[in-house]
This record gives sequence, structure tokens and C-alpha cells, in this order.
Amino acid sequence: MTRIYFNEVVTRDGFQIEPNFIPTDDKVKLINELSACGYAKIEVTSFTSPKAIPMLRDAEEVMGRIVRVPGVEYTVLVPNLRGAERALESEADEFNLVMSTSETHNLANLRMTREKSFTGLAEVIGYVNGKTPINVSLSTSFGCPMEGAISQKVVEEFVQRFADLGVRGVTICDTTGMANPIQVARMVDSIQKKFEYLQLTLHFHNTRGMGLANLLAAVQGGITRFDGSLGGLGGCPYAPGASGNICSEDAIHMLDSMGYITGINITRLVNLARELPIIVGHPVPGQIAKAGCVSDLHPTPSYVYDLC
Ligand code: COA
Ligand code: ZN
Repeated sequence: MTRIYFNEVVTRDGFQIEPNFIPTDDKVKLINELSACGYAKIEVTSFTSPKAIPMLRDAEEVMGRIVRVPGVEYTVLVPNLRGAERALESEADEFNLVMSTSETHNLANLRMTREKSFTGLAEVIGYVNGKTPINVSLSTSFGCPMEGAISQKVVEEFVQRFADLGVRGVTICDTTGMANPIQVARMVDSIQKKFEYLQLTLHFHNTRGMGLANLLAAVQGGITRFDGSLGGLGGCPYAPGASGNICSEDAIHMLDSMGYITGINITRLVNLARELPIIVGHPVPGQIAKAGCVSDLHPTPSYVYDLC
């Protein structure tokens, strides 16, 4: 059966929108526990401006203190040259550059036009010069909450331009949960044919309840790499009404049930997800942590035996 690779983004995409600062000790502990679950990759933090994302102002300290497990890649979000310098110092295994395929969302999130972003990221890629593998996350690729539809052609043009710069991978992001499964099937069919040499990842949000349906459409279309967030936390601070990423344990539980190989210890992961509301101080959207796995059977009530 097919191997599916998960990138856990809770401490980056998940935490960046949280209102109350999560102590560095809690972040380090959670990442270390996630490392023991069997993830292919963990997006640890972001080297963004601490004024823009105060929650992740401890990026250096977190990267310095986590215990790196061989076989797990520790990636970080890098928005600009300053971020790349900091990420190189921290010896991250991969840099995840980010820009939007929507002009309006790019202006809102990164405060510059797409062309300026592209030029800046091209500079970052030149500066890194092959020392660290680069992934580029293309936000709002299935729709922008301000502009509406984003044409697949525009998305593919950006993928091509980054591929031409020699990046290892591209993540196609549904930043605000606007994708539907038919659209996903069309997108993944096309990009896999055009960019079979790239490591392609899909990043879904469950803002409108379509997250797992979209994941399944992508899996059935041949995609094997996904981002997910523990508990379904997450959201873009610059997208009105944005809410959580697809919930890692719900997605992994679904794929496990279907016979896909995720390499992740679901019991361990669900136990971790149950600790998350204590860390963030509020309930989280994930469902498996509440309901248990399909294999967690309940005792039969005694009156049932009396009826037999
Ligand atoms: N790391 C640390 N500090 C940074 C930085 C980085 N990567 N990039 C910029 N800064 C600092 C500058 O040093 C400057 O500090 P100062 O005011 O003390 O001089 C300040 O931030 C402003 O710098 P400027 O170059 O004008 O950048 P900006 O304010 O236009 O910020 C971004 C641009 C993209 C770096 C910033 O908006 C950002 O980090 N946004 C977060 C994007 C994000 O992560 N979104 C969610 C994920 S998709
Ligand atoms: Zn996201």
C-alpha cells in the first residue's frame, strides 16, 4: 500500500494565530514528543519578524533546544533574506519560503506585491546556494478570501518559476479552506504531470469542512505528502475568518483505516492531541481525540447480555 508522508505544522501554522504566548519550554517539549511519533517532517517555527508574529519570537531558542531525531526533517518558514540568515545559523534541515498566488493576500500577509516577493525569494534561493534544500509554499492557490478564484494557470506559472530556480519542493496551499475535491483532483493531476521532478506537498485547511475530502482527492490523485496540524489548530493571521489546518490525527487515522502507511504511531499522537487544549488554553477542533480511534471499542452495557 502507498506510503504517505506527513509534515506536522502545529508549532508554526498552528501556534502563529494563538492569542496567548506559548512558553518556549512547552514548544520544545511538544516538538520532542511529536518527533517520537514517526513524522517525516516537522515545521518547527518561523524566522519571521518578531513584530509580525510575536508568538514565534523564540525561533532560535526552540531550534537550539529541540532534540533532533534521525529520519525526521526539521523545516522552518523563511519569509526573507534576514529569515534565511537566521535559519542557516539554526541549521534547519529545510527552508520553507512562502508567498501567495493572490496579489491581494500577498499584500496583506507579506506587505508586498507578488513580483517583489518572487524577486526577494529568488534572492534567498541564491543566498542559500544549495546549502539547504528549499521548499516553496504557495498560499491561497485554490482561492483567495478577498479576490475569489485563483486560476490554476497562475499557480502553475509560479511553480514553474520556482522550479527553474532549482527548489526541491513546492507546497500547494489552500490557506483559507476554499478548495473542493474536484478542483483538487484537477490541480494535482496537472501539476504532477508537469512537475514530476518536484517534491509536491498539499496543505489544506478545514475552514469549510472540506479538508479531509480534499486530502482524499489528492491521495487518490497520487499525492503522497501532506501538511497537517495537531488538533486541527491553525490559520493565517491575515485571512479573515481563517481557521484550522486539517487535523493531523484525524487525517492519519483515516488513512490508517484505509490501509495507507503513514509510519505514525496513532495512539501516541492521539494522546499528544489530548494534551493540546491544556497547552493552548482552549478546546481544539480535532475529532479523534474526543471520539477515540475506530479500534477503541466501548464495553457492551450489561443489559445487552440480558436481552440475549
Ligand atoms: N527576522 C527578524 N526580523 C525581521 C525579519 C526577519 N525575517 N524581517 C524583517 N525583520 C524586522 C526588520 O529588522 C525591521 O526591524 P526594525 O523595525 O527593528 O528595524 C522590521 O522587521 C521591519 O522590517 P521590513 O524589512 O520593513 O519588513 P516588513 O515589516 O515589511 O516585514 C515580513 C516583512 C514579511 C518579514 C513580515 O511582515 C513578516 O515576517 N510577516 C509574517 C508573515 C507570516 O509568517 N505570515 C504567516 C505565514 S503564511
Ligand atoms: Zn496554512
